[in-house]
Amino acid sequence: MDQEFLEQVDHILSTARSVRRRLDFSREVSREDLEACINIAVQAPTGIAGESWRFLVVTDPGLKLQIAEIYNDQLRNLSLDRGLTLKSSHESLMARLHEIPCMVLVFYLGEPDESVAGQVAFFGSVLPAAWSLMLAMRARGIGTTWTSLLTARSAEIAELLGVPEGVTQTVMLPAGYCLNANLKPAARLNASEVTYWNGWGRTEP
Ligand SMILES: Cc1cc2nc3c(=O)[nH]c(=O)nc-3n(C[C@H](O)[C@H](O)[C@H](O)COP(=O)(O)O)c2cc1C
Repeated sequence: MDQEFLEQVDHILSTARSVRRRLDFSREVSREDLEACINIAVQAPTGIAGESWRFLVVTDPGLKLQIAEIYNDQLRNLSLDRGLTLKSSHESLMARLHEIPCMVLVFYLGEPDESVAGQVAFFGSVLPAAWSLMLAMRARGIGTTWTSLLTARSAEIAELLGVPEGVTQTVMLPAGYCLNANLKPAARLNASEVTYWNGWGRTEP
């Protein structure tokens, strides 16, 4: 095993944090970089429906403005409904979302059924690709945030972007090149605290 290579891969995997502020809002994300990232994303595992994911990149200023308005309205309503105080980084992204170099929306052809098995299969067939996309961006110095709240407004987004019926919207990744983002691993529970062996609750193999 090449230790240096392993450390680099682990570093990317453990530092794909949300980047909402330290982004170069004035620099376009190149089509070449985006396509390279999507080519990595589509290596994610496919479910029974094969490659049913679709990626919609929004760079048009008018569309970004309308999406940002929906996003901000939704996040404000959510925080009011739940009595949550938004973090300053959330506020920062809201203030500049319309200026983000691009928004990548990830869709899946089809609709999930209501069973847990159906939902796991459905979203498990698309979200790994979205996460790979975020990691591939991270590796190229493109900062993103995993956002899912626009799914609550998917009808408006579908109308805006011409998304046909029967297509499910998942995450939206607002993306731009990072500006000196010093991304670090998050404080997380240790594997031993979240892992069981040979039966629920058994902490030893
Ligand atoms: C399911 C899910 C939905 C999220 N939706 C949003 C969102 O709509 N807007 C946002 O700014 N961040 C969103 N985030 C990002 C989180 O707020 C947080 O920044 C991210 O999980 C990284 O923080 P952590 O390292 O503490 O997990 C979402 C994260 C997850 C897992």
